[in-house]
Amino acid sequence: MSGIKTLGQFIIEKQADFPYAKGELSRLLRDIGIAAKIVNREVNKAGLADILGAAGTINVQGEGQQKLDVFANTQFISALTSGGECCIVATEEEDEFVPIDSPVSKNARYIVCIDPLDGSSNIDVNVAVGTIFSIYRRKSIGGVATLEDVLQKGTQQVAAGYVIYGSSTMLVYTTGKGVNGFTLDPSIGEFCLSHPNMKVPAAGNIYSLNEGNYVHFPEGVKKYLKYAQTQDVATNRPYTSRYIGSMVADIHRNLIKGGIYIYPTTAGSPKGKLRLLYECNPMAFIVEQAGGVASDGFNRILDIEPTELHQRTAVFIGSSEMVKTAEELMKQYSSEQRAGAVA
Ligand code: AHG
Ligand code: MN
Ligand code: MN
Repeated sequence: MSGIKTLGQFIIEKQADFPYAKGELSRLLRDIGIAAKIVNREVNKAGLADILGAAGTINVQGEGQQKLDVFANTQFISALTSGGECCIVATEEEDEFVPIDSPVSKNARYIVCIDPLDGSSNIDVNVAVGTIFSIYRRKSIGGVATLEDVLQKGTQQVAAGYVIYGSSTMLVYTTGKGVNGFTLDPSIGEFCLSHPNMKVPAAGNIYSLNEGNYVHFPEGVKKYLKYAQTQDVATNRPYTSRYIGSMVADIHRNLIKGGIYIYPTTAGSPKGKLRLLYECNPMAFIVEQAGGVASDGFNRILDIEPTELHQRTAVFIGSSEMVKTAEELMKQYSSEQRAGAVA
C-alpha cells in the first residue's frame, strides 16, 4: 500500500485547512464519494442491465430523463440524507430544491447543488459521463433553510468537484486550496490520489463547442472560431477541435491538456444552455483554482448573482489566455453590434 493515498485519508489530512468545523465538510465529501462509487457501478454495467433508454419522465428543463439520471439523483440525495451534514439538495433533476429532514440532519449546515449525471445523452453510446457538485454553507441561522440559502454567488462555494465516469473513474475536487484528482482503483474500491495539485496550462490548442449551432452564435463567438482556425505558428494555431458533449469530460480533458470550452447563448437558448448552480459555478471554481478562467463572455461566472434555481448562463471556461481572448472578442463585437443598432 506504500505510496497510495486514498480520498478519505487525503480529506482528513487537509481538513485542518478548513475554516469551519473540521469534520463536517469531510463527512460531506465522503458521502459524495460513496454515492459516486455506487453510480460508477451502475454506469459501468449500463450496457448489460435493463437500465438503458429513457425513463419516460421529463425533468424541469423539459428534457427526457435517462434511467441513470434518475438513479444517480436518488443515490446522491440518499447519501446526503443519511450523512447528516446537508440541509438542502438542489438538483438539476428536481423542479424544487429538496429539503433534507432526517433525525441526523437537525443541525446540518451545508447546501449541495448537483448535476447527478452530466452528459446523459452519451450513456447509450458508452462515452464518458459525469457528476458535478457544489457545496455552500447555509446563510440563515435557525429554522429551516430556504431558497435564499441556495441562491448564493459562486464565490461563496466552500467546495466543488466532479466525477468523471470514463476509461477510468476519477473524482476531482477543490475546497479553495488548489485542485486534486483521485482515480478509482476498482481492485480496492477506493479513490486514490493520482493528480495532485492540478494546473490548467495558461494556453492550449483545443477548443470545444458544438459547432453545429454556428449560425446561432453571437458574433464574438464566430470571430473567436475564425481566430482558432487561423494559422499562426507563434500561438500554435490553428487549434484542434474536440467536443464530447459531456461538459465534465470536455473540461476534464482541457484541464489536463489546456483548452477552452464554450457553450454560448444561441437563438434556441438565448440565456445559454448550461445551468449556473449545477454546472457552471462548480466548474468555474475548480478551473479558477487550477489557474484558469471562467466567464459568461463578459463577466466572471463566480460573480453572477443567481435569482432562480435552474438559471442558465453562457460559459467560456479553461486556459486563461484562451478565455481572455474569447472575452475580448465578445466585448468588441457586442459593442460594435450595439453601436450598429444605434446608428
Ligand atoms: P446534462 O446531460 O446534465 O443535461 O448536460 C448536458 C450538457 C453538457 O454536459 C454538454 O456539454 C452539453 O449539454 C451538450 O449540449 P449540446 O448537445 O447542445 O452540445
Ligand atoms: Mn449537465
Ligand atoms: Mn444532468
